[in-house]
Amino acid sequence: MSDSPKHKRQNRAIGATLILSIVGAAVFIATDIYNAGPQAEGASIAVSLGALAIALIAWSKQILPQTQLVSERPPLPAPHSGPDSASETFAEGEREVVSRRGLTGLLAAAVGTLGVAAIFPVRSLGPMIDSLFHTRWSPGARVVDGDGVPVHRGSLGVKSMMTVFPEGYTDSQDSQTLLIRTPPGTVPLPPDRANWAPDGYIAFSKVCTHAGCPVALFRATDLLLMCPCHQSIFDVLQLAARISGPAARPLPQLPLEIDADGFLHAQSDYHEAIGPSFWERPG
Ligand code: FES
Repeated sequence: MSDSPKHKRQNRAIGATLILSIVGAAVFIATDIYNAGPQAEGASIAVSLGALAIALIAWSKQILPQTQLVSERPPLPAPHSGPDSASETFAEGEREVVSRRGLTGLLAAAVGTLGVAAIFPVRSLGPMIDSLFHTRWSPGARVVDGDGVPVHRGSLGVKSMMTVFPEGYTDSQDSQTLLIRTPPGTVPLPPDRANWAPDGYIAFSKVCTHAGCPVALFRATDLLLMCPCHQSIFDVLQLAARISGPAARPLPQLPLEIDADGFLHAQSDYHEAIGPSFWERPG
């Protein structure tokens, strides 16, 4: 392989692309640590992988001959062609080795940085696994609205609905809950849930059991909840059982109680894991 100006330019371009790949992977790690959001993470890892791919393609093109060459066998050199010619050949080989070593080092660094970057998303699976089973609701947690204002027994009219959260966690997506005030005595509660809906207040997870969208629509006339993503409909009067659409399970219920001052609290977390079905869901 020659040490021509064109060859040097190619090596510099490949080296710069590998450095870009390293920088992209490092930015990805930083965006993951500082929770910069999926767009930033996606853009940085795309730059890193794309730059690595371009560098490998360019390098392979440089190494592998792109055309079929036929050359006449040159006359054999005279023995002992001279110390100058031999030393020049040796020096050329040395320069090539050094150049290739540099690129190989950069390639190893790029692959290594990408390997480290791949560990970070795996690391973030830890708390996610736990959150599949538990939310921020706990025994005695005060029920508040989206502004953090405690919900009182007079806060909702009959056949009304609002989204509520456990106090202190109004940003918790998996704890968002639909609080509905039903006409007293209209929801047939089974014996094990007999005291879960005081004064007609009944609460269900807002996270759809199909694919996790917020169940955002409420039809007051017949107390139906609808998920706008794929139109699953849940009937409040049947403990949020799915009556149409692709969801397979009812919305999990949150047991409620009302304290002596009339404020609503949770008796516990939801009675089962919220959201879509998953591989380790019990029962
Ligand atoms: S996510 Fe609710 S119906 Fe699909």
